[in-house]
Amino acid sequence: MTISVHEIADQIYRISTPVTMPDGPGGFTFNQYLVADEQPLLFHTGPRRMFPPIREALQRVLPVERLRYIGLSHFEADECGSLNEWLAAAPAAEPVCGRIAAMVSINDVADRPARALADGEVLSLGAHRVRWFDTPHLPHAWECGFLFETSTRTLLCGDLFTQGGAEHPALTESDILGPSEAFRKPMDYFAHAKNTRGMLERLAAEKPTTLACMHGSAWRGDGAQLLRALADALEREG
Ligand SMILES: [Fe+2]
Ligand SMILES: [Fe+2]
Repeated sequence: MTISVHEIADQIYRISTPVTMPDGPGGFTFNQYLVADEQPLLFHTGPRRMFPPIREALQRVLPVERLRYIGLSHFEADECGSLNEWLAAAPAAEPVCGRIAAMVSINDVADRPARALADGEVLSLGAHRVRWFDTPHLPHAWECGFLFETSTRTLLCGDLFTQGGAEHPALTESDILGPSEAFRKPMDYFAHAKNTRGMLERLAAEKPTTLACMHGSAWRGDGAQLLRALADALEREG
């Protein structure tokens, strides 16, 4: 298991673990994003069993004890399975999530209380600032939401645009919608919430230029256009 670390936007690092899944859809990747700043934030923990090597990889960028926030989009093992391991390794760290995640899961499961962000709330990390967007059931989970980093226009887009396969460049400007739709179709992981288009439109309005995908390559380009193309693809399917 070789974990790679690449800076995909100014002081935002993609930590990526490729895995092979003989019983699943072939290879896959689990990515975490580290915003290195005065108050460093890690978005997603990776699965619990992968904690030791992911911690080692993060330490190529900064000492784990410096972490201030451990963010998560929704409550699943790859998003927050090792949350308590990170909280133990970083004494000043707090979980960061939406209010629903805090209420339903994190404030019970986590060893320290969550910093629960309201929809639209901004958290300053120093030079970087992240804004929380509630996206219930997009792509899945009631508590789901995303962070948008305003200075680099990076959308930490979690499971949106998930691409299968274990080998990906850290950052691409090639199409990721086609590969992610090809991955989604056989085992659709979207909840298809009624206001999916409205939520994607709200993210598009922020005009992201980097999409920090949790599975597959991060992507650079016209993020608004790609988010709208995803809304179109989902709508076509009904
Ligand atoms: Fe998920
Ligand atoms: Fe995920």
